[in-house]
Amino acid sequence: MSVWHIEGGRRLSGSVAVQGAKNAVLPIMAASVLAPGETELTNVPELRDVDATIRILRGLGCGVERSGDIVRIDSAYIARSEIPHSLMRELRSSVVFLGALLARCCHARLSMPGGCELGPRPIDLHLMALRALGAEIDERAGELICSTPNGLRGAAIALPMPSVGATENAMLCACAAEGETVIMNAAREPEIAELQGFLNALGAGVSGAGSATVRVRGGALRPFRVGHRIMPDRIVSATYLAACAAAGGDVELRGVEPRHFSTVLHSLSECGCDIITTGCSVRLRSAALLRAPMPVITGPYPAFPTDAQPLMLAACLKAKGTSVFVENVFQNRFRFTEELTRLGARIHTEGRVAVVTGVDALHGAPAVATDLRGGAALIIAALSAEGATDILDSGHVERGYERFDERLGELGAEVSLRDK
Ligand code: UD1
Repeated sequence: MSVWHIEGGRRLSGSVAVQGAKNAVLPIMAASVLAPGETELTNVPELRDVDATIRILRGLGCGVERSGDIVRIDSAYIARSEIPHSLMRELRSSVVFLGALLARCCHARLSMPGGCELGPRPIDLHLMALRALGAEIDERAGELICSTPNGLRGAAIALPMPSVGATENAMLCACAAEGETVIMNAAREPEIAELQGFLNALGAGVSGAGSATVRVRGGALRPFRVGHRIMPDRIVSATYLAACAAAGGDVELRGVEPRHFSTVLHSLSECGCDIITTGCSVRLRSAALLRAPMPVITGPYPAFPTDAQPLMLAACLKAKGTSVFVENVFQNRFRFTEELTRLGARIHTEGRVAVVTGVDALHGAPAVATDLRGGAALIIAALSAEGATDILDSGHVERGYERFDERLGELGAEVSLRDK
């Protein structure tokens, strides 16, 4: 357990370089096992989820070295196609190894990723896509035993909803399938286009990422040697901006891709923040008094990202008027709001809707991080509260934020992270 100790009420000012994207690096690290090869990734964030993925790769037999923001993966030799339960539990997105291992080893055995803080997170669409490609999957006693007795062959896969993970799994597995695969109603998130870029650098034939139809021309991949720089994290970008909006101040983000979080920028400017984007930087100056934005409605990209919903909600706690949030992606993504009320926030939730009535002030209080972005939302609220807040966190925030305490400190916040 660790505790985030925050002395609220400090304005934020300065400039911050945004880390590489967690949700881009994880599927790319899984993709590195598709064929024998050497991968050098740069701009890899130092995160607990990345550490867990490195342990998975080493467990499979890959050589992995990390130095600073560079990770080198040698996948010349894969010793096994099984991932132990202890690692599967640590990292829900480890399920993306399923498609990669089936493609490389024609076999994979791993446990079901557990239930989650955001409500049920089934993997039926992942399994449906892999079965369409020819995988036989035996689900027994919480384990998935997968094989491809008749080989993998290209298929038309229509996803009932544009699941990010299912799209990625299908793309990885389809790289080794004979013939063409067409994934319809594919997720359009920027991380999908990033994965396409990496797969093509390996020698795969993937096109259409970013649109609802992704095509993969399958076949055996040749040994490769590839370098790739990880794109900037759009949710971390949104976090620093929401923190500045809430606490007040003037912050510049460097090395970001503003078009990846334009919906967040739009909502923050509706709140009255002054936002200037130039190339790969964004500057936000907060308003003296924020006002409630138009309803924030989450959905698959390019709609407002579900991962930024808790951050935006935290930025609106003191906004004048009533802010409305509709969560359309996950069933149970408002658990963190109960913790925010300890700081004096007025929030009413019902099903998929949360209604925030702006208050004049928040006050510090003890609270608990319920999940990664919920924990970040609490930190944002604590920065804008009067007095001290201690947030008990079982490691959620460090799964997604690199040196968050230090970087907020560089912007003028008083934040420390201690072990308990
Ligand atoms: C990814 C992101 C996560 C983000 C989410 C939505 C990673 C590592 N994680 O998660 O940060 O919040 O996209 O943008 O990239 N679903 C099913 N069956 C399935 C798969 C998904 O019903 O087989 C449902 C989920 O329960 C959820 C919705 O589809 O309600 C979207 O989930 P999905 O896009 O798959 O999210 P992840 O890939 O898990």
